Amino acid sequence: MLEGKKIILGVTGGIAAYKTVILARLLVKAGAEVQVIMTPNAKEFITPLTMSTITSKPVISEFFTANTGEWHSHVDLGVWADAMVIAPATASTIAKLANGVADNMLVTTYLSSKSPVFIAPAMDLDMMRHPTTIHNLEMLKSYGNHIIEPTSGELASHLVGKGRMEEPENIFNVLSDFFETTSQLEGKKVLITAGPTVESIDPVRFISNHSSGKMGYAIAEECALRGAEVTLVSGPVSLSMTNSNVNLVKVNTACEMYAKVMGHTDESDLVVLCAAVADYRAEQISERKIKRDATDTLTIKLVENPDIAKAVGEKKHSGQVVVGFALETDNEEEHAREKLAKKNLDMIVLNSLNDKGAGFKTDTNKVTILERGGAVHNYECKSKRLVAKDIIDVVVNNHFAK
Ligand code: PMT
Repeated sequence: MLEGKKIILGVTGGIAAYKTVILARLLVKAGAEVQVIMTPNAKEFITPLTMSTITSKPVISEFFTANTGEWHSHVDLGVWADAMVIAPATASTIAKLANGVADNMLVTTYLSSKSPVFIAPAMDLDMMRHPTTIHNLEMLKSYGNHIIEPTSGELASHLVGKGRMEEPENIFNVLSDFFETTSQLEGKKVLITAGPTVESIDPVRFISNHSSGKMGYAIAEECALRGAEVTLVSGPVSLSMTNSNVNLVKVNTACEMYAKVMGHTDESDLVVLCAAVADYRAEQISERKIKRDATDTLTIKLVENPDIAKAVGEKKHSGQVVVGFALETDNEEEHAREKLAKKNLDMIVLNSLNDKGAGFKTDTNKVTILERGGAVHNYECKSKRLVAKDIIDVVVNNHFAK
């Protein structure tokens, strides 16, 4: 998994730096190209010569080489790398990373980095549990960095507690697993629908539903993370999508969504229909605001919208996987199974409005996945991000396993 991968290995000034020598060796043996960047304090613990001998590359520590004046571009390094690992990461470096204190080559490169960043803290237990460190690590996590939690045991101070850098073999495994996951959908095209559709009645009112798009956007992120080229056809939501592997196509109505989906379905290896599509629209959209009149009822004639999932299911080609959703309020499993069959889906993700934390708007969902072959997978209520992971795990394991 690490063959040919370009890794920046950042080393900071902690005693665990001696273990980073082994990490560098493991990475090089696995075929990775490793560029070590050491902070000035790291050099007090291990020598640059050790690291450059193992990696066959001069270690970078300063912004330029003193005797030649050669400039080391942190920007080029940030673009070059497929991943950056900082091990050990001291409390001081963690604080600098969290707050953008770019006073050394390592932090400057981190700020320029385009690749995923893995941070393996190592420090004494009191520093580790200090609110400042906890806050800084939370900040780094919220920016999308991967924190490789330290373990508990005897520390350099001879105190016992949490703060030991994770073992080099385990850090290596984290990286290896990461690259394995991110290549699972490489070369695959994925089409996803998300959000509500909005069907106007007049220039002021519309028929719609409570979908926020959170579930569909999480699935799009998950597929992109696993290397897929994603087209996300989304009804109006207040979410943004910044992942460059996701092509966001905005629509308003079910008919617009149908047209966009039909335009992309043939080329897609996987189609996930997560949108809450309005089944009906007004036959006539009044050009003027409908006025209240003397009568106490108002009749609006509705006509059926296209069933996008059914149309995709009917066109399904060999090797293509189609996943639908079912949002139910009663006889949940029975209705979901009917939809699975009627729409010719391979899988249906059932969520019930009777389950707390499931369905519209929430950050969580509780789903059951029903497969065409009869298999049923039940899950706990969890974040939509993790639900997306579960759904794509089933797709990858049962349909795209290499
Ligand atoms: O967006 P969130 O706030 O995060 O909420 C997520 C969600 C509740 C919207 C999502 O988890 C979900 O259940 N989406 C499907 C909602 C729905 O419309 O279910 P349904 O049972 O009515 O439709 C069955 C399937 O047919 C769905 O895959 C739906 O996308 C599809 N469909 C329905 C009608 C239609 N005209 N065209 C369709 O493609």
